[in-house]
Amino acid sequence: MVAPLAQIQEILDGRYADKQVSIRGWVYRKRTSKKVIFALIRDATGVIQCTVKRGSPAWANAETVTIESSVELRGTVRSDDRAPGGYELSTTQLKIVGLAETFPITKDQSEEFRRDVRHLWLRSQEMTKIMKVRSEVLKFTHEFFRKRGYVEVSPPMFISSACEGGATLFGLKYFDKDLYLTQSAQLHLEALIYASEKVYCVAPSFRAEKSRTIRHLTEYWHVEAEEAFSTMEDMMRLEEDLVSFVCQRVAEASKEELETLGVDKQNLKNVKPPFARITYDDAIKKLHEEGFKIRWGEDFGFNEERALAKESGPIFVYAYPKEIKAFYCKTYPENPKLVMSVDLIVPKIGELTTGGARVDDKEELLARLKEFGLRQEDYDWYIDLRRYGTVPHAGFGLGVERLLAWMLDLDNIMEAIPFPRTIRRFYP
Ligand code: 4AD
Ligand code: MG
Repeated sequence: MVAPLAQIQEILDGRYADKQVSIRGWVYRKRTSKKVIFALIRDATGVIQCTVKRGSPAWANAETVTIESSVELRGTVRSDDRAPGGYELSTTQLKIVGLAETFPITKDQSEEFRRDVRHLWLRSQEMTKIMKVRSEVLKFTHEFFRKRGYVEVSPPMFISSACEGGATLFGLKYFDKDLYLTQSAQLHLEALIYASEKVYCVAPSFRAEKSRTIRHLTEYWHVEAEEAFSTMEDMMRLEEDLVSFVCQRVAEASKEELETLGVDKQNLKNVKPPFARITYDDAIKKLHEEGFKIRWGEDFGFNEERALAKESGPIFVYAYPKEIKAFYCKTYPENPKLVMSVDLIVPKIGELTTGGARVDDKEELLARLKEFGLRQEDYDWYIDLRRYGTVPHAGFGLGVERLLAWMLDLDNIMEAIPFPRTIRRFYP
């Protein structure tokens, strides 16, 4: 008698009704009654109820087996309305592959504890589904850029000059030199557009964020794009198309996961271009009308961002004061106090992307480096890009975990990555 190895989802889809199958996975729950042991078994695809009757050859192992033990089972699939999912496995053989010690995670433990044992909590249905959606988000991101002819590039992680300012820079000893971990691939992507014109990458970025918030990690995954002969407005269109594409595709591809996570897929389907657009000036006025005390020239905090994105869904804020943006942002010729920099702000999480046009003139770049107190020799290679065939260009960066936290309405960005790193968390 050969019983084919089935995935649990295939059984729940009805493909094995009344047939013999074997499955392998882990014990998710177990309940023993006088005559029957009910075990919920999970694999990567789903959870199924398995029953073992007293007197069956599987009984002894079913009694012994503990929560989170790994197992192989064989039996007959029965359709049963009382079973979660509509099918159960009437089990005749149960092999214990790895008997588990008492599993430390039980119901009603704190988020903090679950993060302490994240290496085990990853087995939860919740984390499994989030990781599946994360994988889809990355897949559709690549699909989006490739369809549009962007070349995927691989930037360095060790860098010698800061992109986003010294405050969040991680320093490290590199042999006898002092280097940093990258905060953004942007400067290196800029070098690559002189060959490939349209480039993108998905890579880690590192930020020495000292504050503990629901949206900051010290290590996060960064989607970045850079394009020759393009403008801030081009980037706004590219970003809204990307975010909408990912939301639409995930709404279709991850129906089951969204349902388990309690996310209404219609919310994702509603994400469509064009997104709202507002200048920094008008955003300040709007915030004043709502009673915020922020002064012109100040950067938005989390509360201001959330207030701006409240009703409209995603919203672009652009044309910022020069002082609150990075050295590489291009100024408006008609108003050099403002830069062509744009943030995409979403409800709950706030800033999802920053992008814009880059300084493409060598003299202006030299002046900006000086204004920001940056040493020219640290940026010589970057200045070279303005010496040899400079072009107007623009790009943007988007935080993958922020995107996922927004899409799935997660309470904390730490749930959007398997092993979150923050000022206090680097274990497991
Ligand atoms: O706004 P940021 O700092 O912009 C840049 O790094 C640009 N050089 C990007 C570019 O133009 N290529 O970072 C971009 C995005 C933010 O909008 C946010 O989504 C995410 O990266 N991000 C973080 N995500 C999680 N934890 C952190 N500490 C983050 N810092 C930035
Ligand atoms: Mg930013």
